Amino acid sequence: MTDAIRYELVKQCAHTGARAGILHTPHGSFNTPMFMPVGTQATVKAMSPRELTEMGAGIILSNTYHLFLRPGHELVAEAGGLHKFMGWDRGILTDSGGFQVFSLGDLRKISEEGVAFRSHIDGSRQFLSPEIATQVQNALGSDILMAFDECVPYPAEYDYAKRSTERTTRWAERCLKAHSRADQGLFGIVQGGMYKDLRAQSAAELTSLDFPGYGIGGLSVGEPKHLMYEMLEHTTPRLPTNKPRYLMGVGTADCLVEGVMRGVDMFDCVFPTRVARNGTTMTKNGRLVVKNAEFARDLRPIDPDCGCYACQNFSRAYIRHLFKADEIFGLRLTTIHNLYHLLDFMRRMRQAIIEDRFLAFREEFWEYYPKEEN
Ligand code: GUN
Ligand code: ZN
Repeated sequence: MTDAIRYELVKQCAHTGARAGILHTPHGSFNTPMFMPVGTQATVKAMSPRELTEMGAGIILSNTYHLFLRPGHELVAEAGGLHKFMGWDRGILTDSGGFQVFSLGDLRKISEEGVAFRSHIDGSRQFLSPEIATQVQNALGSDILMAFDECVPYPAEYDYAKRSTERTTRWAERCLKAHSRADQGLFGIVQGGMYKDLRAQSAAELTSLDFPGYGIGGLSVGEPKHLMYEMLEHTTPRLPTNKPRYLMGVGTADCLVEGVMRGVDMFDCVFPTRVARNGTTMTKNGRLVVKNAEFARDLRPIDPDCGCYACQNFSRAYIRHLFKADEIFGLRLTTIHNLYHLLDFMRRMRQAIIEDRFLAFREEFWEYYPKEEN
């Protein structure tokens, strides 16, 4: 087994599953729990690597599916790997492409061998399998690569969810066999749909394969949040305490707190960067749509308590003006704020775990955060 990725437990909360740790990777060590900004196409949209570093991002996520189709993993390898290609020297986790390919709907066909699909870019015929997805990620050179899995949709019949989940285990074994680089860590992905016994089965099968970390997939796919939390409660206790757990595709503040409480260490989500480009910002009181008319003459920063570059230097009225005038600096500022907000939120949550006050932190969070909001 590779030791490219090592999880160090710093503090286990005495009252909940929350834990503070450090993840050691070939490109640095990062505090957990952590949020990974999404850089699908080898760029976190609108952000330079320097800005990401300055706001404390330790690891970002990128996507096999997109880089495989464009510009192609051969080019990235030729450039010296993804870190060098995109000018980012901290951690990179690549998702396997499973999730993206399955989202293509009519454009794909699944078999035991893998998934045949048509490129969303030019319609060309393509194929991804556990072996190919692993080879592509080996070529990209990410610190963490993810096993090629099938994300069970919601809702799904029990029999379908069971067959799909068992295939994800067989695919995970194939990924392990294909994985060829000792300086990268391959994570398995727990599936199981919304069925507790399948979650348990998937966790048991994958942990027997001894990955250096585990993704928890198939959540935040349209199910009510209480179901997601319930599934987490049936998954994390079945994963080894000396390995990191990564809840895939989740990144709103409420899910981060509730996920951390249930033992999750890593998260990623396009939400903060995507809504930012739409003029929506994240605050402890929920969303603030800065491009709304109500902020036209509001000279306060997005969040008066925020330490980000946008909040330290610019007003809501100014940022709204940029959006109204279609100036690209506006969406850079909202992106900077949203990412800083989440990274800082994770830092404060980690400190609370270390100081034995995680439950108080969570309680205070819910005092301000609207219950009905995502
Ligand atoms: N991103 C969000 N959910 C999933 C999932 O279930 N599998 C993979 N590979 N990526 C995801
Ligand atoms: Zn800010």
